[in-house]
Amino acid sequence: MDCHCIKLMHAVLLWVIAAAAAAAGTASAQTIAPDCQATCGGVTIPYPFGTTEGCYLNRNYLITCNNTFSPPKPFLRTGNIEVLNISLVDHYLRVLTPVGSDCYNEKGGRRQVTARTTLSRFPFSNTRNKFTAIGCDTFAVIMNGMNGQSISTGCLSMCDSIQSVTNGSCSGIGCCQTSIPKGLLNFNVTVSSFSNHSDILSFNPCSYTFLTEEDSFNFSSADLIDLQNRSHVPTVLDWAVGEQTCEEAQKNLTSFACQANSICFDSNNDYGYQCNCSAGYQGNPYLPSGCQGICLRSTAF
Ligand SMILES: *[C@@H]1O[C@H](CO)[C@@H](O)[C@H](O)[C@H]1NC(C)=O
Ligand SMILES: *[C@@H]1O[C@H](CO)[C@@H](O)[C@H](O)[C@H]1NC(C)=O
Ligand SMILES: *[C@@H]1O[C@H](CO)[C@@H](O)[C@H](O)[C@H]1NC(C)=O
Ligand SMILES: *[C@@H]1O[C@H](CO)[C@@H](O)[C@H](O)[C@H]1NC(C)=O
Ligand SMILES: *[C@@H]1O[C@H](CO)[C@@H](O)[C@H](O)[C@H]1NC(C)=O
Ligand SMILES: *[C@@H]1O[C@H](CO)[C@@H](O)[C@H](O)[C@H]1NC(C)=O
Ligand SMILES: *[C@@H]1O[C@H](CO)[C@@H](O)[C@H](O)[C@H]1NC(C)=O
Ligand SMILES: *[C@@H]1O[C@H](CO)[C@@H](O)[C@H](O)[C@H]1NC(C)=O
Ligand SMILES: *[C@@H]1O[C@H](CO)[C@@H](O)[C@H](O)[C@H]1NC(C)=O
Repeated sequence: MDCHCIKLMHAVLLWVIAAAAAAAGTASAQTIAPDCQATCGGVTIPYPFGTTEGCYLNRNYLITCNNTFSPPKPFLRTGNIEVLNISLVDHYLRVLTPVGSDCYNEKGGRRQVTARTTLSRFPFSNTRNKFTAIGCDTFAVIMNGMNGQSISTGCLSMCDSIQSVTNGSCSGIGCCQTSIPKGLLNFNVTVSSFSNHSDILSFNPCSYTFLTEEDSFNFSSADLIDLQNRSHVPTVLDWAVGEQTCEEAQKNLTSFACQANSICFDSNNDYGYQCNCSAGYQGNPYLPSGCQGICLRSTAF
């Protein structure tokens, strides 16, 4: 057994030895090219994701690193959805999705933008995202972009002065939020008004709508004026492997993605399963020998 703790200092190393090492079965080793690109523009790309063939599990996990940007930008598959983070531990992808808007001017002009996002795999997280609308004469709807079915009751926000808006809190006055269902892969967000923002043009000429990570968005009353020119917002996707449950996937150890010293969980959004290193191990559970024993340091003798 080998361990790579660098700083021993004055501590005593304690080994964590996994009991019952002989597990019922572990997946056959995946072979991954040794020269895989580990990062793109500061974003870490862990297996099963990869930028070239041989580096990803299958094409659903392809990340295109576009070097025409400086720094380079990673995108999902071959599309235009930019990736901000890939978490191996929590199994999320943080991406950018577009903002829909509906703007008016004094001359009675209107410009409406419906924002559309289409994923091929990995649904939007129903626990970490909120469908959000901003405005004081605002009615927003999120639709399933594939079949046009309304997937929520939408969201309504009305106010007649900036004083009535609670800065910092999205609570229905100037800003409203609602949940989305599990398994959502495509959406169109559209926002409209009841009375063309007349009487409120001075402080709120536009309504905005988007699906965003709840924790990354803090409503500010300044957003009623121009949303600080934001055209895209961070949104979280849940990722998994396979299309089966753990129980089904474990029946075929040739295709089972969880490697030695790992445990399997069923995805709780849509289908597929996820692997985690077992207690006492850390690393990448999708790589052979990816889960390594943790060395515990003790300061007391
Ligand atoms: C990289 O981005 C540029 C600008 O958006 C685009 O024209 C080009 O097709 C992209 N390249 C790849 C490989 O996706
Ligand atoms: C996610 O990406 C953003 C932008 O690239 C970065 O600022 C942040 O530190 C990243 N977060 C994690 C947890 O990696
Ligand atoms: C979603 O938007 C796209 C492009 O704007 C459009 O082609 C499609 O019909 C829209 N879907 C729905 C259900 O409105
Ligand atoms: C909004 O503007 C449209 C087009 O300019 C107009 O037909 C409509 O009557 C206006 N509605 C209200 C409530 O002002
Ligand atoms: C939102 O506000 C909270 C509390 O004021 C703060 O801790 C958090 O960092 C803010 N988040 C962003 C993305 O600004
Ligand atoms: C609203 O809150 C933000 C963030 O807390 C702050 O920067 C801004 O000055 C506040 N705006 C008003 C009008 O109070
Ligand atoms: C938004 O963009 C407009 C036009 O480019 C600019 O005048 C304005 O200052 C910008 N607002 C913010 C908050 O950056
Ligand atoms: C197990 O998975 C491998 C690789 O995907 C596949 O070739 C094989 O047919 C599967 N075996 C069974 C019994 O389904
Ligand atoms: C996987 O492990 C991480 C870190 O130990 C933990 O935060 C996470 O909750 C685990 N996932 C599951 C499904 O237990």
